[in-house]
Amino acid sequence: MTSRGRIAIAVCALCVAMGVVAAQAEGPRSKASSADVARGRYLVVIGGCNDCHTAGYAPSGGHVPEDRWLLGDGVLGFKGPWGTTYAPNLRRVAASMNESDWIVFARKLKARPPMPWFTLNQWNESDLRALYRYVRQMGPPGDAVTPFVPPDQAPKGPVVQWPAPPQK
Ligand code: HEC
Repeated sequence: MTSRGRIAIAVCALCVAMGVVAAQAEGPRSKASSADVARGRYLVVIGGCNDCHTAGYAPSGGHVPEDRWLLGDGVLGFKGPWGTTYAPNLRRVAASMNESDWIVFARKLKARPPMPWFTLNQWNESDLRALYRYVRQMGPPGDAVTPFVPPDQAPKGPVVQWPAPPQK
């Protein structure tokens, strides 16, 4: 092959590579792809989010239809020295902010027990985006759950009683 031929092939290869990069950059990054949604669903399942944020999920061994996932649980409270917390409706949380704000929010979140905020803070960006995209396409956001009850007030419904954390 002549050196001209080689240069032509190299230039073509470069064009193809640039085309691929451009297509990725222009791709529907702000729109949920089915791969993002599937990954987000997987992360919700293995991340255990339904255990608290879906009413009845843990006690039924995970047998709650997906259309009721992540609507929160305003009945079962988590009572401890911090007061009584209720797992919020994550569809409403996601609907209340855009995707970029969600990334910042999830990274900085500090919440009362038993929310494992310290693990959510460590999710990488693409996983946080996938979670957000899954939650946003889940359907109607539904209602807010029972608000936090301070320690000096008695919660109305059933509670899981948590002990104080061990003293060092
Ligand atoms: C052991 C129970 C439990 C698990 C598991 C859990 N959460 Fe929570 N989560 C809570 C409770 C309770 C709160 C409310 C804490 C408070 O009132 O300060 C909360 C709060 C949150 C908040 C803050 C909402 C707001 O508006 O401030 C986000 C976001 C959240 N959880 C996301 C998740 C995600 C995502 C997962 C799965 C990776 C998850 N949680 C797993 C119990 C849980």
